Amino acid sequence: MKALTWHGKHDIRCETVPDPIIEDDRDAIIKVTACAICGSDLHLYQGSVPDMHSGDVMGHEAMGEVVEVGKGNSKLQVGDRVVVPFTISCGHCFFCQRGFFSGCENSNPDKEKAKKMWGNSPAGLFGYTHMLGGYSGGQAEYLRVPYADVGPIKVPDGLTDEQALFLSDIFPTGYMAAEFCNIQPGETVAIWGCGPVGQMAIRSAYMLGAARVIAVDSVAERLALAAASGALTLNYLETDIYDEIMQLTGGRGADACIDAVGTEADPAASWDSRIDRIKVATFMGTDRPHVLRQAIHCCRNFGTVSIVGVYGGFLDKIPMGSAINRGLTFRMAQTPVQRYLPMLMDRVLKGEIDPSFVITHRATLEEGPGLYETFKNKDDGCIKVVIKP
Ligand SMILES: NC(=O)c1ccc[n+]([C@@H]2O[C@H](COP(=O)([O-])OP(=O)(O)OC[C@H]3O[C@@H](n4cnc5c(N)ncnc54)[C@H](O)[C@@H]3O)[C@@H](O)[C@H]2O)c1
Ligand SMILES: [Zn+2]
Ligand SMILES: [Zn+2]
Repeated sequence: MKALTWHGKHDIRCETVPDPIIEDDRDAIIKVTACAICGSDLHLYQGSVPDMHSGDVMGHEAMGEVVEVGKGNSKLQVGDRVVVPFTISCGHCFFCQRGFFSGCENSNPDKEKAKKMWGNSPAGLFGYTHMLGGYSGGQAEYLRVPYADVGPIKVPDGLTDEQALFLSDIFPTGYMAAEFCNIQPGETVAIWGCGPVGQMAIRSAYMLGAARVIAVDSVAERLALAAASGALTLNYLETDIYDEIMQLTGGRGADACIDAVGTEADPAASWDSRIDRIKVATFMGTDRPHVLRQAIHCCRNFGTVSIVGVYGGFLDKIPMGSAINRGLTFRMAQTPVQRYLPMLMDRVLKGEIDPSFVITHRATLEEGPGLYETFKNKDDGCIKVVIKP
């Protein structure tokens, strides 16, 4: 089959690789009808995630048609149309039973590697480093889905692929980011990053009752899309974000702040961003957490900082003094997608949201490598790329 494979920093190729096969009774194989490139794929593309191997198949946002089912899987049948969560979860362990699917303790066969870095291992993920299982991803013609009696959910006929695809990741992630904020009537939520995840967080914050959303980015099209969703937008290259948020909130700060940027914050944003970049480039640091620092400072006393932008390692100069003295709550996670899927599918079916509003580019697998570059550079108005293998 054809697939997008990783070969090093800024080197994604469309290649022929072996077709996946059923390896366990609970597996299913799906013929991918739509998949997407995520901001998380950019961390791999930029070479910031360790333990990727040459030839690894990329992609963790995928949906398609079931073409083969393992003997022990009674939930799926050949011909079912399903969307697949990016988190791989057994459904039975301590964490899965409590709904913390992204903490599954059975789905990462390379647990020991993750333990060394993080103290313990989260769930395995599709197309995301051998630290998290080295599973082949969904930017391919076919995808092997482990524990396919737990993760994938059937898509009703009423929904198009484009409406259903983002239930695999960015819609649940944006929704979780807003849910973490425990939004009360009248509250203001500030969101850093107007990429696909930030866009989903803006819509979700309004769905959950925010009175006002302030959205921060520097890319014109992304700010425009945020404004179209009702957000008040701020460009960090043109304004002092802290001053502006204080002014907008009577000097208190936002009730909740969402970091939907993560480790690759733009070095042009500030001096601390530039220092972070130098530290990472010289192996003196692992991440560039400027947005997290700013979100903490911009959050009101006893407010919530919700982190869905991904960080990898040991973050420097996080203002914990500010956080503890002012009573902030921190919430964060790789999204336990399965926990949100049925409820969010229902919201899409009811027409409360059509997640396809973020799509700007549609492509074939062959066009995939070029679109990684376009998405990274935010060229050509690119916000979200959907690939139809
Ligand atoms: N927690 C999860 O489960 C989960 C799931 C999906 C994605 N993610 C993460 O969410 C993050 C966003 O993903 P995406 O697909 O939207 O990526 P993206 O790269 O398209 O979006 C990031 C946005 O942040 C903006 N940005 C950069 N520096 C900034 C700054 N200083 N202030 C404000 N905005 C700034 C960029 O211009 C860009 O628009 C990534 O870190 C990704 O890994 C997490
Ligand atoms: Zn993703
Ligand atoms: Zn589990």
